[in-house]
Amino acid sequence: MANIFKQKETTFNPEGYIPKHIAIIMDGNGRWAQKKLLPRIAGHKVGMDTVKKITKSASQLGVKVLTLYAFSTENWKRPNDEVSFLMKLPVEFFDKFVPELIKENVRVNVIGYIDQLPTHTQDAVKRAVEQTKDNTGMILNFALNYGSRAEMITAVQEIVKSGMKPEEVTEEVVSNYLMTGSLPKELQDPELVIRTSGEERLSNFLLWQMAYSELYFTDEYWPDFTQDSLKQAIASFQSRNRRFGGIINK
Ligand code: IPE
Ligand code: IPE
Ligand code: MG
Repeated sequence: MANIFKQKETTFNPEGYIPKHIAIIMDGNGRWAQKKLLPRIAGHKVGMDTVKKITKSASQLGVKVLTLYAFSTENWKRPNDEVSFLMKLPVEFFDKFVPELIKENVRVNVIGYIDQLPTHTQDAVKRAVEQTKDNTGMILNFALNYGSRAEMITAVQEIVKSGMKPEEVTEEVVSNYLMTGSLPKELQDPELVIRTSGEERLSNFLLWQMAYSELYFTDEYWPDFTQDSLKQAIASFQSRNRRFGGIINK
């Protein structure tokens, strides 16, 4: 008997609409490693290779902004050795990958409290931003030491400091004061948000920007996520009817 609760099957349509901004909560590195009896950091290392593959795939599919949640303002709670490994990863990642990013015409952008990162991490990030600043293709937007509530508090503080009148504070103003405000206007909010690893929560990621995002959860751990997984997520997006509070239009 057909299971009426089963999710409908979807196939990726390369001619169909490709979300312009995709944001990914890259989760499950630790569990991926533990399942293989490896230390958690082994999962982060393979996860970095997934970042390279998915960046390339997204860029080739025509995505305009790919936001990747790499380190949250809450991830400092982890053991020191894991945190310090995670802080070294951007150095290795950018040093090896920037030439390819340049070839792909990808521009690196960062959101998060970068000035709180160790100097070597900050330097690597700033170097990558600088080296790719003239690229005109996809924006690879890393959320590093990012937290949505902290971001909102900073935005409110800045708005108050600006001396703006209360009635001047509009949705557009708030969007511009958030860290994603540096992205092109029509690309600030993700159309599709993917979370890997089976967890179905937002973990303090882009809470304002996600107001009308389509959410996609997959059980795959991040190191196992492939180009086909990305296409499957886009296929799911393509099958949805986005109403933005209006009425059904197809
Ligand atoms: C995601 O994987 C990467 C970061 C949060 C830095 P995790 O490290 O959270 O992996 P799990 O969730 O413990 O499996
Ligand atoms: C969210 O994953 C943060 C990143 C992917 C960087 P976490 O693993 O930190 O989230 P929780 O703790 O399971 O909510
Ligand atoms: Mg996790």
